[in-house]
Amino acid sequence: MEMRFRNGDIQSARPPSWWKDVVVYQIWPASFKDSNGDGLGDLRGIISKLDYLKDLGVDVIWLSPMYDSPQDDMGYDISDYNKIYPPYGTMDDMDELIAGVHNRGMRIVLDLVVNHTSSEHWWFQESKKSRKGKYADFYMWRDAKIGKDGTREPPNNWGSVFGGSAWEWGEEREQYYLHIFATRQPDLNWESAEVRKEIHESALRFWFKKGVDGFRVDTCNIYSKDPELKDGEVTPRSAPFGDPQEGMVNGPMIHPIWQEIRQKVLNDFGDPLMVGELSLCTFEETMKYIGREPRELSMVFDFTYTMLGGIHEKPPHEVGSYPLPEAKKAMKKPQEYVVQPLAWASVFKENHDLPRSISRHGTNNPKFWEMAAKLLAMMTSTLSGTLFLYQGEEIGMTNIPETWSIDDCKDLSSINYWNKMEKEYPNDKEMMQKVWKGIVECSRDNARTPVQWSGEENAGFTTGKPWMRVNENYQTGLNVADQQKSQDSVWSFWKELLRLRKQHKEIFMEGSYHVHDLENKQTWTFEKRGKEGRKAWIVLNFSENESPVETRGKLALSNASNPGDRLQPFEGRIYFQE
Ligand code: GLC
Ligand code: CA
Repeated sequence: MEMRFRNGDIQSARPPSWWKDVVVYQIWPASFKDSNGDGLGDLRGIISKLDYLKDLGVDVIWLSPMYDSPQDDMGYDISDYNKIYPPYGTMDDMDELIAGVHNRGMRIVLDLVVNHTSSEHWWFQESKKSRKGKYADFYMWRDAKIGKDGTREPPNNWGSVFGGSAWEWGEEREQYYLHIFATRQPDLNWESAEVRKEIHESALRFWFKKGVDGFRVDTCNIYSKDPELKDGEVTPRSAPFGDPQEGMVNGPMIHPIWQEIRQKVLNDFGDPLMVGELSLCTFEETMKYIGREPRELSMVFDFTYTMLGGIHEKPPHEVGSYPLPEAKKAMKKPQEYVVQPLAWASVFKENHDLPRSISRHGTNNPKFWEMAAKLLAMMTSTLSGTLFLYQGEEIGMTNIPETWSIDDCKDLSSINYWNKMEKEYPNDKEMMQKVWKGIVECSRDNARTPVQWSGEENAGFTTGKPWMRVNENYQTGLNVADQQKSQDSVWSFWKELLRLRKQHKEIFMEGSYHVHDLENKQTWTFEKRGKEGRKAWIVLNFSENESPVETRGKLALSNASNPGDRLQPFEGRIYFQE
């Protein structure tokens, strides 16, 4: 009986959701492909690569923000939901992209960034002028607190995710506004029905009417804040400020907000893919978004695995490695979503906010780069849920090298962090070296270097001067063109795995996950059980040493050319058991 309700579709008498058995590919427009030689990726660059994506086995494209924006946070600061950032192209290009995707039988989802706008959005431009008028309550304005010595203080102690206080003084209104992210990313006031209506219409309906198939939802669980705006606990990461986490995650209005979006907008457009960026939630809290009717979101990104070692939790120079058993346990949580009656999961290791997975979860030893990249591909493509690939992951792109410097970094969070530490530790070379190592190991810049298309100048990304430095390792085979030529490349291996995943979807996409060697620090062995009783056995050696191997059934795939009695360093195998 349990089986009947495994994916919820029977229970809710809905046709099966199309977004369950697809491969999604995230495009970060600035660094994907430049078409006009200005050094910045653009929409026509994306259009020129649609056949490439189709050929790889991609079904859905997720486009990171291409909206008009002053680019303080690379487009996650939107100044107009209904315009394209001019250097990326025009609305005609966008229409052509949507049509181009659909003509190839693929789908497209956009990024929905509605916790905040850019301070350049006209809503804020109006809002900051006066406490009266249509836009007065569009943002989180609060009166100052008066400190002991009569000075003006922010309403509470919250710190911003990108450093400094989360409050900024607005001269004209003589009030503070809240910005959980950058100063120029003011938080919208979701308590206002007017705000909600504007978001429904301009950020959502406008694009659904243009034919987009869903959204990746930025920071989907922080729109509703604690009405009392209590001070936050001062944590190592937030110090000297308070951590806003308690007061913003899963606030009192968050589920009504999502139910309203479902009812007033999503229901008009069938069954769109809505994948939420959901941080800091327990299993039970997550289920409220994806595990009950009416379903608020299709699935979420669960960061338990990608945060291992302390990423996004500790300051980068304190992030460390983690023992392999932690990874096996971390993966249990999202894999468990899949076998709940209504919920579903996503599978991912990379995005525009994370370091490259080969560097973070594989190895930095060039000798094992290829084996480890293939190993990670095997791990990802045998886990259940909707698979998300990030641009360049299919060729095993790596973090930036240690030989670069902070001047090569473009992301405001790397730069703010570097500046803060330099101020706190003047002339402390050793500390700044640690800080740099932290940036090289876990900053967002790692994911944002241009995609390496070929061995030509600038990796074939642009004929002009790239807006961000290209990783030089494109010259030694780490590029699409060279890898497409070889049957043994990381790219060819990914392509084969995506095919295998689709062919055995009841095992790899929908099957249940059972770890076999939880405490083993060297290998990760798990079984996937499909609902028809078919099973796969996956063994992955995450170390630079050989390891004994327990086999089951018939070998289907290995990343080693001659699999033997023992696993080679970073060797992985997939077996089918009948
Ligand atoms: C999300 C985005 C990140 C952005 C932040 C603020 O975490 O993924 O890139 O900086 O939201 O919008
Ligand atoms: Ca361009």
